Amino acid sequence: MNQLWKYYSETNPQALAINQLLVNSGETVVNDHIAFRTINDNRFGIDWIAQPFIDLGYQARGDYSFKQKKLRAKHYEHHEAQAPKIFISELLLQEFSPKLKNTLTQAFETIPKNQLKPAELLTLGRAWNPIQYQNYQTLLQESEYAAWLYCFGICPNHFTVSINHLNKYNQIEKLNQLVKESGFSLNQSGGEIKGTKTDLLQQSSTIAAKRMVSFSDGEQAIPYCYYEFALRHTDENNKLYQGFITQSADKLFESTDRQD
Ligand code: NI
Repeated sequence: MNQLWKYYSETNPQALAINQLLVNSGETVVNDHIAFRTINDNRFGIDWIAQPFIDLGYQARGDYSFKQKKLRAKHYEHHEAQAPKIFISELLLQEFSPKLKNTLTQAFETIPKNQLKPAELLTLGRAWNPIQYQNYQTLLQESEYAAWLYCFGICPNHFTVSINHLNKYNQIEKLNQLVKESGFSLNQSGGEIKGTKTDLLQQSSTIAAKRMVSFSDGEQAIPYCYYEFALRHTDENNKLYQGFITQSADKLFESTDRQD
């Protein structure tokens, strides 16, 4: 977990800055969940990403389907309450063009699976080189998620602050205000706050900051990772909800959309 945070925070100055902002105001930051993206090839699908977590005692808990974006996802929980949940999504390759399917399958096949430890795999980033900007643009026409994977490979896509564990910023509106006042933009797709108290989960996220990507035909700034915030509510049995809301997650995926 520390290695994952190290990789993510070092490559995402935006997330580190917001994390520091909270720490400097006396908060202890606990992660609600960490999210990964992959493809549904049987060698590189959700189960493959999940394995290192299963080895640590995580168990599969929820299944989610995103029809329009052609994705499915699962989430995993650990019996230790403070351990972050793991949310893994995968692109349903068979629902896309042969060009998209081949581009991503060939890229993933270059991952040196047998030479790396699980934690190294989860922070591998893009194992394939070179990549072409034209390919990126072609993928983008079919799926933003596919284009993102092509550029960035396997890495934590976002960490999520558990608002339930904050003291001063224990309301999502308050935390959003702090983030915006500090100069960061929030994803407005589907509204700034996704989900309601009745849904038992409210979430917001930053707009992914851009990262320079080296294509064979030059460098381009591409939206990379975002930082997410989640507030969970108790159900009628006074039990804190631990799942995810498909409709909200669908909009949160758009945090890596191009804004221009
Ligand atoms: Ni998330």
